[in-house]
Amino acid sequence: MSGEAGTDTRQTERLAPDPAGCARAVELWRRGGLVAFPTETVYGLGADAGNGRAVARIFAAKGRPRFNPLIVHVPDIVAACRLAVFSPVAERLAEAFWPGPMSLVLPRRPGAPVCDLVSAGLDSLALRVPAHDVAHALLEAFGGPVAAPSANPSGRISPTTAAHVLDGLDGRIDAVIDGGACTVGLESSVLAAAEDHVVILRPGAVTAEDIRRVTGLAARIAHAQDGAAPASPGRLASHYAPRAELLIASADPPPLAVHVGFGAVAGEPGLNLSPSGDLTEAAANLFAMLREADARAGLRAGLIAVSPIPETGLGVAINDRLRRAAAPRS
Ligand code: TXA
Ligand code: MG
Repeated sequence: MSGEAGTDTRQTERLAPDPAGCARAVELWRRGGLVAFPTETVYGLGADAGNGRAVARIFAAKGRPRFNPLIVHVPDIVAACRLAVFSPVAERLAEAFWPGPMSLVLPRRPGAPVCDLVSAGLDSLALRVPAHDVAHALLEAFGGPVAAPSANPSGRISPTTAAHVLDGLDGRIDAVIDGGACTVGLESSVLAAAEDHVVILRPGAVTAEDIRRVTGLAARIAHAQDGAAPASPGRLASHYAPRAELLIASADPPPLAVHVGFGAVAGEPGLNLSPSGDLTEAAANLFAMLREADARAGLRAGLIAVSPIPETGLGVAINDRLRRAAAPRS
């Protein structure tokens, strides 16, 4: 039943992105339920961030390791400031990029109404204000912080449609709001913004160039083995994994591979992230096309080959996801 912990199998309600659907979602959140909802990046699996049992159910439904903290979603900067302490640099980033595809890791305010499980015991919180009408309406109506990781089983490809959510989590969550396809298509940039420097814990649509423009600071991309970087527990090497083996930066794909092209491609690739070589379009298509390629590869050699993507702008985030998808599985 909705809102009760301990049950693994339940009916997942399909909700419309209208006032009635949003009211039902909020009702489920109030009862400790799990509701997947659209944002401009990917679909999130939301629960009341102040309810420890509800948050525990997120980890259970996803099979997510408990050391990997969740992003807390709020409707605006004012709500974010109640939960965490902003440095002047963090303030500038929030004003420039919220609502939008950016999460800020900040020191948690004492007494913030977010349960410890959300931040996996860290004394920081990752906060985000999504730029999506439905997400915004939900967060306003709920009136409290909502913890929401991407709405996929842990380690698998993030969902950019409600159908993707149901592929992975049908029967394990209370409801999904179908708001159509996500426009950005990659998870938010996760930034640790201190007084005088910014570290990119996860690259996304807010890029190092964007950060420099707004703060004047050269942001550094954290690497897993980077001891000096703030803890970024979610950056496991193998992530976003399709079932098939993935070859990246493949200019000359093996004949049996399912080819995912980018830009003008010789021969006839079945799938192309962006025939015109547009990185924004490629990001929006990436996860859906990896899923489609995975389904086709299952019927063939079990091999996917993706064309080279330039390591500039949004290409940095696309290549980050592709490298993880290609990493050896643990
Ligand atoms: O676009 C997004 O960010 C989506 C939508 C739903 O908002 N959410 C998402 O959540 O991608 P998730 O759980 O899949 O990724 C959250 C990332 C993880 O890499 C996690 O380790 C990191 O954020 N994170 C969360 N809290 C953190 C913290 N306090 N310190 C460092 N990293 C944190
Ligand atoms: Mg995720």
